Amino acid sequence: MNSKRIDPRLVLRNAQKADHDRTLGLFDLTILGVGAIIGTGILVLTGIVAAEDAGPAVTFSFLIAAIASGLIGLCYAELTTSIPNSGGAYVYSWVTLGQLPAFFTGWTLLGVYVATTATVANGWTGYLKSFLQEFDILLPASLLVPAGAGGIVNLPAVIMILLVTVLLTRGTGQSKFVNNCLVCIKLLIIFLFIFVSVRDVNPSNWHPFAPYGVRGIITGAGTVFFSFLGFDALATSAEDAKDVQHTIPRAIVYSLVLSTILYIIVGLLMTGVVKYTRLNVSEAMAFVLLSQGHRLAAQLVSAGAILGIIAVVYAFIYAGANITKAMSRGGFLPSHWAKLNSHSGSPNRALWIIGCLSALLAGVFDLHYLALIANVGSLIVFFIVSLAVILTRRQYPALERPFKVPGGKIIPILSMGVCLLLLVNISGAAWLTYLIWLVAGAVLYGLYSRHHVDLKQQG
Ligand code: ALA
Repeated sequence: MNSKRIDPRLVLRNAQKADHDRTLGLFDLTILGVGAIIGTGILVLTGIVAAEDAGPAVTFSFLIAAIASGLIGLCYAELTTSIPNSGGAYVYSWVTLGQLPAFFTGWTLLGVYVATTATVANGWTGYLKSFLQEFDILLPASLLVPAGAGGIVNLPAVIMILLVTVLLTRGTGQSKFVNNCLVCIKLLIIFLFIFVSVRDVNPSNWHPFAPYGVRGIITGAGTVFFSFLGFDALATSAEDAKDVQHTIPRAIVYSLVLSTILYIIVGLLMTGVVKYTRLNVSEAMAFVLLSQGHRLAAQLVSAGAILGIIAVVYAFIYAGANITKAMSRGGFLPSHWAKLNSHSGSPNRALWIIGCLSALLAGVFDLHYLALIANVGSLIVFFIVSLAVILTRRQYPALERPFKVPGGKIIPILSMGVCLLLLVNISGAAWLTYLIWLVAGAVLYGLYSRHHVDLKQQG
């Protein structure tokens, strides 16, 4: 056996050791999933993709991205139930591929969670700006736009991320309640949008349905894939989940199905009410409502979006801190970063590291650029997760698998293929940034991690 791989039984033992305070049940986990999934993607990217890439067929782009996420989600469900731990893909990689790939998977995940948090917070600023404009409150433009997009700093995004970090450091038990409320608000505004807009649909707006053809639909899928990021964050909640074998796979499936249904309905309504060519705006939902004179509904949707997007930031900082904690336990990062606060039981240092890095990126870089980086990193990690399903079955056939992906290797192979298909559609600039992040990781690994790695503490 490769000595640089860890035995999944060791991970299981260590995860059980940390089984002190499980607070999340199926409902909480599903809400955590929905909280992480529905956000800037549907609220900001739908209109842009409809206008630029796919037209009304953006609904097909959502469908392709949903199928991809479903395949990947099934792979996650098998691994997270057989090897529950807070490191998610990073630990699966260590179990199947060995120490160095594990480091780079964890490092990629760190970058993904930070980039996603920053993207989502950037989208949040757009809704905040348009909401305040309704009340004639105009903030200085240079403090709303990141330096990378011609401003000075995206200050509201920075402040919001830091406040969410403070909330998280008070403990998952307390902030779970706040998070659940925020997710309910987000769902309510989407239902409000559906309820109000359904009467304004003019079917002639759906012609032509796919103005940019199949290519446009697939390019659109590569972008709206961002809207589904978040289901994987559930896999990192295994240490906080009650009855992990049953709750996590169900929560992944439930939150994906609910989001997909809502995305498809919203995509159809947006393009049915307003001609797709007019949807190239950052606050598409409010814009569609205003175009039909529903001013109050538009204001409620903007206000709900401002609150609801906070839940996404909450989920991604939480997931990022869990990866930091897991990598610290394994010795790749300084061990005191994994320390739990004695009052709240939260990994406060890890939370602050993720919070501050995300705030920095959100303040400085442009939304679209950050979203593409998040997509590259996520798809690479999802490819590794799908591969890990096949490898664990071969390497550890006796491992107990409460949930097994049906159909042998077919689903993991399809999942890997879909990841590659979407990856080749992502721009070179995002790839280059990801490579720079990998080089930084390689330096860290050479100078620190490889000297401190500790297989026994992993999990
Ligand atoms: N899926 C999350 C969003 O759309 C990242 O905001």
